[in-house]
Amino acid sequence: MRTALIALTDELRRLKTAGVKSVAVSDESVAALRRVVAGCKASRPAAAAAPVVTPAKSSVPPAPVVALKPVASPAGKPMSPPPPVVLPPGGKQVRWDALLELVRNDPTCRAHVRPGKLVVLGVGNLEAKIMFVGEAPGADEEVKGEPFVGPAGQLLTRMIGAMGLKREDVYIGNIMNWRPEMPTPPGAQQIGNRPPTEEEMRYCLPYLRAQIEIVAPALLVALGSTAAQGLLGFGTFKALGEIRGRWREFAGKPLMVTYHPSYILRNQSNRSKRMIWEDLLKVMERAGLPVSDKQRAFFLDR
Ligand code: URA
Repeated sequence: MRTALIALTDELRRLKTAGVKSVAVSDESVAALRRVVAGCKASRPAAAAAPVVTPAKSSVPPAPVVALKPVASPAGKPMSPPPPVVLPPGGKQVRWDALLELVRNDPTCRAHVRPGKLVVLGVGNLEAKIMFVGEAPGADEEVKGEPFVGPAGQLLTRMIGAMGLKREDVYIGNIMNWRPEMPTPPGAQQIGNRPPTEEEMRYCLPYLRAQIEIVAPALLVALGSTAAQGLLGFGTFKALGEIRGRWREFAGKPLMVTYHPSYILRNQSNRSKRMIWEDLLKVMERAGLPVSDKQRAFFLDR
């Protein structure tokens, strides 16, 4: 429940920073939230009056509470033009290692990463048929230097398992190579995430393109609307529902757009799970993976 609450709070912050001024919440949802909050208060020791929000199972130490303001996007400062990515000749591993060096030493990436945190490149099998593309590293990812290792990543790993694969069988990348910054006092941990700006994504895109070129997957899966916008272009669609579940193309590869795993963390109904699952069934079919009757029927009891 705590994870779901954190995911909900994150989503509300994301919407706020995206300019959304109000959200409609049903009376039943408000009542359910009140019950949850009352339950949390009842189970919290009296001394722990200040709510310190730390992601569940996070490897990030508890942080001082920081008042969240709408994001001052670093886009305030003009960003340098996207980096040219020139890789040495050689096999996939040689080129990927060179790319990792380039990204880690990119002055713009480094300038956006808080002290002690890491620039993040994709991870996985360089022979993968399927490449997942997410949005940006979060708190856990910038500590580990690996995409999708926090709660959403753990769910993604389970989704990959439901497809009959292991995390090591696929490649997982992000459009962004750093965690988009929020205003945070020096020495404090950043709380919450914001979606990257168009400019930030445009900056990092050559690194994603280079990963696609190196891995040469049979197909791509964009997770969530920010990743889809980064790949397909801002303004291509209004709501993810318009484009999910249908094949598109990016960098000459078939691209399936589906919901971000964090959507399921916020929305645990079988109906939501089935929507993503139907998209993933299409991915499995197109990648030539076997699909059992049992897999076809996952989450049908909606
Ligand atoms: N969400 C993303 O889009 N990417 C990550 O790496 C983690 C969470």
